[in-house]
Amino acid sequence: MAKTSGKSRTSLIAEREVLNRRLLNWATVFARDLPWRTTRDPWSVLVSEVMLQQTQVSRVQPKYLEFLNLWPTPQHLADSELSDLLVFWVGLGYPRRARNLHSAARQIRDLHSGTVPSTLPELVELPGVGPYTARAVMVFAFETKVGVVDTNVGRLLARWSGESLQPGTAQRLADALVPPDDPWLWNQALFDLAAMICTRKNPQCFECPVASCCSWRGTGLDPASNSAGVTKKQSKFQGSDRQARGKLMRGLAVGPVALAEASIVMGLADEPNRSDRLVQDLHSEGLITIRDGFLLLGDSLK
Ligand code: ADE
Repeated sequence: MAKTSGKSRTSLIAEREVLNRRLLNWATVFARDLPWRTTRDPWSVLVSEVMLQQTQVSRVQPKYLEFLNLWPTPQHLADSELSDLLVFWVGLGYPRRARNLHSAARQIRDLHSGTVPSTLPELVELPGVGPYTARAVMVFAFETKVGVVDTNVGRLLARWSGESLQPGTAQRLADALVPPDDPWLWNQALFDLAAMICTRKNPQCFECPVASCCSWRGTGLDPASNSAGVTKKQSKFQGSDRQARGKLMRGLAVGPVALAEASIVMGLADEPNRSDRLVQDLHSEGLITIRDGFLLLGDSLK
């Protein structure tokens, strides 16, 4: 437990008016101008949050705009083929997100009359929507007063409070700090402070608008380094299953691939067992169809 001498969570909450005023003033000037921030449309917000789950902001930006041109409402996506979405998704990676988003669109069409729901219990019923994404939709579309705590925001909260935080504690702290009059800007501000100033390595504490409210202030043991879920490292991509699967998905976006050629497309000609396993995985995840000795994208029989 990395406890520094500093403010406790209780005194941080007691100081929240000062903290929030500084944070919101800073965000008014420095918050990033991102395309999903000019809307409160719940479908657009849900799409952006699903894309941002595992892909960098810079790569999401153009794909987000392109996506909404193609599928501006849940109904548009629900009425389309999964294979079209999977072709589009190449480059974003983690295609299970695309399959889930497609199923979510159908659920929204069939169970919610085409309107994205606004409550936590309804949102987490949608495929691919966990509590984090549900809260992001609640705040960024419906301006509900809740905190949105991802790994980066968890790091800020740990540093401010001067102790490593379990995910549930970080969530409760964020919910206690969020100002009722501007939960939208407050949560966007936290993302931006984490991305631009309170970074994992080399935080720019001298530029931080809330340094005076922070227990850590960049010296001594970083309380965030022990926080649960905060030190998640991306596993190596080169030579990974993810890379091989991505190669096959890219190949399939161009057209069907003979089952016998799949290992070559994946760069696994010397590893037939591994290649077979990856094909089976993609099939059981509903991302590819196997028909007449060929692999096709999606679950359609087009
Ligand atoms: N990551 C997840 N949601 C985000 C948002 N709204 N802005 C920037 N980064 C994010």
